[in-house]
Amino acid sequence: MREGFFSDPPTVPPRWFHDEKGSLLFDRITRLAEYYPTRAEAEILRSRAVDIVGDATTMVELGAGTCEKTRVLLDVFSRRTTAPPAGAAAPAGAVAPAGAAAPAGAAAPAGAAPPAGAAAEASPLFVPVDISTEMLFDSARALAAEYPGLRVEPVVADLTALDGPLPGEPGGRLVLFLGGTVGNFSEAQRADFLDMLRGVMDPGDRLGLGFDLVKDPARLVAAYNDADGVTAEFNLNMLDVISRTVEARGLDRRDFRHEAVWNAEESRIEMWLRAIRDVRIDFPTLGRSRTLDVGAGIRTEIARKFEPYALMDELAGHGFLRGPVWTDDAGDFGLALVVVD
Ligand code: AVI
Repeated sequence: MREGFFSDPPTVPPRWFHDEKGSLLFDRITRLAEYYPTRAEAEILRSRAVDIVGDATTMVELGAGTCEKTRVLLDVFSRRTTAPPAGAAAPAGAVAPAGAAAPAGAAAPAGAAPPAGAAAEASPLFVPVDISTEMLFDSARALAAEYPGLRVEPVVADLTALDGPLPGEPGGRLVLFLGGTVGNFSEAQRADFLDMLRGVMDPGDRLGLGFDLVKDPARLVAAYNDADGVTAEFNLNMLDVISRTVEARGLDRRDFRHEAVWNAEESRIEMWLRAIRDVRIDFPTLGRSRTLDVGAGIRTEIARKFEPYALMDELAGHGFLRGPVWTDDAGDFGLALVVVD
């Protein structure tokens, strides 16, 4: 935030949206009439669950949150009996090194410790990854209870900074990055993210990537500027999070209004907080201040919208081979399933 707030235009990373109120507001956004991505993606996951799960032995979900949207896949995945990996005569427990190979951060099994023997070796492994510890462990516990055939190993990590091999059997992993969050990265961040992912995955592992599609700008803008003002409140709440977290004098939500605009050149929606009067914000701990004239804005989020073929080319450039791309029936949202080369 220190970097972004003093650049032109000022920007704030989207993670500042997410205090408890922000997370609740986002949950409401996903159920708004105007906000189609969540429903459209759920439709794809429902209708393609068997194809998506395929013969995966490990399912890793990046930014898993409450794991709500993944349940439809877990219904299929948890019923699978995965073939024991090569050399499965290994001593009990050797095949399920909970957390041992986990990327940065804490890892712990949430399910009951797998019993000794082949049955444990054959149970599918689900690895939800999220930065929010409490939500992650709560949902991991609930899933472990709900799906007795599933091993659940939550990993607390920043999903943009995974730094080890992912848990699970190389070549048998299905890594999911859903919701269209890949659109919230800048071009450079997306390239770094794909390179990082390629680095922690092995040949044969698959990536399931949910992404929003280019469409009528009026619909796109409405999805980020709903009639009930939920997205506006979500955006303005960021100012409260900043004010509470860093010492920022003069940062007042009453001085700003929410704005969502379509930037055709960059193929993205941008969310802004636009100053409705001249504003001066002081950061005493940093010894810096920032003035914004009336009409000036802080860019709080970008949401890139993709053309499927261009995205597939981009993925190929990062070592992810072409695979199927599905959309919902209305053609609003896409899910690509690509394989590590
Ligand atoms: C999390 N992400 C995919 C959402 C999106 O659509 O870009 C964030 C969002 N911001 C406002 N509405 C939704």
